[in-house]
Amino acid sequence: MRKKIVAGNWKMNTLLKDGMELAKAVEEQTRASSADAMVIIAPPFTHLSRIGDLISHVRLAAQNCSSEASGAYTGEVSPDMLISAGVEYVIIGHSERRSYYAEDNQVLNKKVKLALEAGLKPIYCCGEVLEEREAGKLFEVVETQIKVGLEGLTAADMEKVVIAYEPVWAIGTGKVATPEQAQEMHQFIRQLLARLFDERVAEDISLLYGGSCKPSNAAELFANPDVDGGLIGGASLKAGDFAAIVNAF
Ligand code: PGA
Repeated sequence: MRKKIVAGNWKMNTLLKDGMELAKAVEEQTRASSADAMVIIAPPFTHLSRIGDLISHVRLAAQNCSSEASGAYTGEVSPDMLISAGVEYVIIGHSERRSYYAEDNQVLNKKVKLALEAGLKPIYCCGEVLEEREAGKLFEVVETQIKVGLEGLTAADMEKVVIAYEPVWAIGTGKVATPEQAQEMHQFIRQLLARLFDERVAEDISLLYGGSCKPSNAAELFANPDVDGGLIGGASLKAGDFAAIVNAF
């Protein structure tokens, strides 16, 4: 049985004190949840090690990592550094990194490999922009993102990878994908993984949906057979909303 996961991507929000309070509230409000979903939070880099000390069943993720292992890369944070700070997961290839920081599939592939070598579990993001969907290129775009971004990984590596499908037109816009649109792409991704790796990889991997997911729409998204949870942006900044999404299972 594959894992159900609800992950909160805080993006560049919260000062340290507020972040610590939010993490504590998430820990408390999701502890008693009867949903057997794994809960992950991805605070900013500066908060990670302090927040790591405050949580126990909630897992810790970073929002990015360097594509280089160490050395003269001012401003970068390596996967080994994240491990040393108690981080378990790392979001790689979020659409905001792809568009604002020009991260392409090749550099993301380097990040995924380096993260795995360090012992981090990548949450690899993919998803089309609106023009690509309207031009009927959505499957082609996502296929390339997955093929190139995960190139060279083994089936054993894939046991540690989570994939998040986040249609860019749904991120932060309030325009959520319909359950049918989410299911259609998740099923496509699973079939693609069966071709690229094997059936077992495809069956066992957790595929998360992201993009304007909130308490009012989470249950119908998560009810789809190929949607194993969500990557939550805006609604992860309120512990009550985030816990309600966890409980949507
Ligand atoms: P959103 O963001 O939930 O605010 O749309 C999702 C994400 O970017 O991961």
